[in-house]
Amino acid sequence: MEEDRDLQTVKLRVEELRSLIAYHDYRYYVLDSPEISDAQYDELMRELRRLEERYPQLITPDSPTQRVSGQPVAAFGIVEHRLPLLSLANAFAEAELRAWHRRASALAGSDDFTLVCEPKMDGLAVALVYENGAFVQGATRGDGRRGENITENLRTIRSIPLRLGKGAPSRFEVRGEVYMTKQGFEKVNQEIMWLNEEIDRVNEELAKKGKKEKKRLSLFANPRNAAAGSVRQRDARSVRQRDARMTAKRSLDIFIYALGWLEGAARPPTQWETLQWLGKLGFRTNPYNARARYLNEAMHVCYEWQDRRESLPYEIDGVVVKIDDLSLQERLGAVGREPRWAIAYKFPPIQATTKLLKIKVNVGRTGSLNPYAVLEPVRVGGATVERATLHNEDDIRRKDIRIGDTVIIQRAGDVIPQVVGPVVSLRTGEEEVYSMPEQCPECHAPVRRLEGEAMSYCTNTACPAQRFALMEHFVSRDAMDIEGIGQSTGAALLENGSVADPGDIYSLTVDQLVYLMLPGKDHPRRLGAPTARKIVDETERSKQRPLSRVIFALGIRHVGSEMADRLAEHFGAIDALAAASVEDLESVPTVGPKIAQSVRAYFDDEDNRRIIEKLRQAGVRLAEERAAREEGPLRGLTFVVTGTLSAFTREEAEERVRELGGSAASSVTRKTDYVVVGESPGSKAQKAQEYGVKTLTEEEFLSMLRRTNA
Ligand code: IVH
Repeated sequence: MEEDRDLQTVKLRVEELRSLIAYHDYRYYVLDSPEISDAQYDELMRELRRLEERYPQLITPDSPTQRVSGQPVAAFGIVEHRLPLLSLANAFAEAELRAWHRRASALAGSDDFTLVCEPKMDGLAVALVYENGAFVQGATRGDGRRGENITENLRTIRSIPLRLGKGAPSRFEVRGEVYMTKQGFEKVNQEIMWLNEEIDRVNEELAKKGKKEKKRLSLFANPRNAAAGSVRQRDARSVRQRDARMTAKRSLDIFIYALGWLEGAARPPTQWETLQWLGKLGFRTNPYNARARYLNEAMHVCYEWQDRRESLPYEIDGVVVKIDDLSLQERLGAVGREPRWAIAYKFPPIQATTKLLKIKVNVGRTGSLNPYAVLEPVRVGGATVERATLHNEDDIRRKDIRIGDTVIIQRAGDVIPQVVGPVVSLRTGEEEVYSMPEQCPECHAPVRRLEGEAMSYCTNTACPAQRFALMEHFVSRDAMDIEGIGQSTGAALLENGSVADPGDIYSLTVDQLVYLMLPGKDHPRRLGAPTARKIVDETERSKQRPLSRVIFALGIRHVGSEMADRLAEHFGAIDALAAASVEDLESVPTVGPKIAQSVRAYFDDEDNRRIIEKLRQAGVRLAEERAAREEGPLRGLTFVVTGTLSAFTREEAEERVRELGGSAASSVTRKTDYVVVGESPGSKAQKAQEYGVKTLTEEEFLSMLRRTNA
């Protein structure tokens, strides 16, 4: 009797803990706005776990302690969907979206209907069933009628509520997309690469003993495959492998986008209201879902996301456009698997597969040997790609990219296409493992790889390829911006000996340049007087470029334009920079040991010092004019602006920071002081959180400016 009462009290507490935890999960994972600290949350979990250990009869499958079971899921059962999960017709261009709208309008008898635009997550569709407020079953879409039972794996996704609050219908199904964040995907692949390194080590031993080698694991090609793989995974063999899988599971998330079948409640009349209702029930819906009154507005949303897809922390491959009114949806019905009331506007693809024909190396301005892939031409994201960067030797080895492989190519925004990895299943056995040349492909000097660096370098500073690349860099737009010296002019000047390094550009005369012979289409041609004069004028003008440009133009290893800004600001003159010790350099915000050493090594080199002297002789500005910047209320503070601001563009915001004496950077590091977070921020906001860097809303930023201005 006594015991029963005890049990009753414990049961009440257990239930209270579960609903508290469910509530805080919701605040944290769905609303992204926690009310209690992680430690307080852990305390709740600990108490619940303790009670459940003592009273195992109280454990229920929907208890939050059951989320991270980590136990292997035996075999998946088959689930019959009560209502089939439909798929979507695609529109690959504006005209196709308009044609869809015309057809729907004709059937509806009017074109005056509201639309809902939802970012189309690139993951896998799932159906979740709730009974009496508890999550009881989760299944993949499968063929639309029958899917796999993945309830246990779905329980590990924290934004899937295991239990709903009061007011939930007695039984119903919701549908959504499980996806992996880009960051999670990178992390999972990183862990797989580490595992492969371990396997390689083991294999070396096995090979010595003449034993059969273990197989390397394949990398996931994209977040979607990673999400699908993680949600459908069974048991893991090794502990390390299990770790990678745990990481994968932890990086999964879900957006709910539809209501399936429903008992015990009335359906809201529109898709938009359905989304709001689902949100209120505790489901995570995409905050970027938007209602559009007209097709043009929807079209605008599609284009907007096409441009901004990179800014999201997860991948989307299009925008789903749905007719809002559910009764109209019903009237329109479906053709086969595809509803007439919705369509997926698909972005141009940014990944494609093709054959890797050769690996070549070019020599960069700092002597770095940059391997790149020569590919069978392929269309990706609206452009033909024939080459893609391979970064460095380590990367080739880690991804196990071999010559002759079928590879996945990716193009994002304006950046150089990348080789994501090989499609291992398509190997024929003829593929060749690549190794970096031991001699510079241009000048045949020995190649050196520094300790702790992924890059190999040509050791000959007089290497013509290096000189050419440095010249090209020196005159480029973001450096000294000397118009008129293009690739062929630069090459010709180096070849005929008029210049040996960028310092010599300043002593070129019109007479010297007029007769410079350039390769023509049919036969060589003279540079000619107008261009010669222009080059000399431009060169003269470039002497007034700010110090930061000069520092950037020198082509110091690891010093990009942003770092050059920072160094110029801090040291104010090239001589001060040249005299700085490694410690002095490291005291500058965002300068780490690698950069500090590289700057020091640059100025220790006699050839480089000669270049600086030539610039000085020529009258190039080597000190900052910096009366205004010296002081300023934001002095010593580094800002990163991310997302869209409403009061000004990012550049304007950065300029304001600089005017007030602060510095503006584009990437978040531990040394960043503030991250200003605008509308739809990307991974930088996350990074800030990770590093514990303070974030400011636009409002807060503005009031800071106002305060400092006063
Ligand atoms: S609606 C008619 N809404 O796209 C209902 N689907 O190509 C079909 N998807 O299998 C689904 N985000 O995996 C819908 N907001 C969204 C979606 C979405 C992603 C996926 C889903 C579906 C596929 C159809």
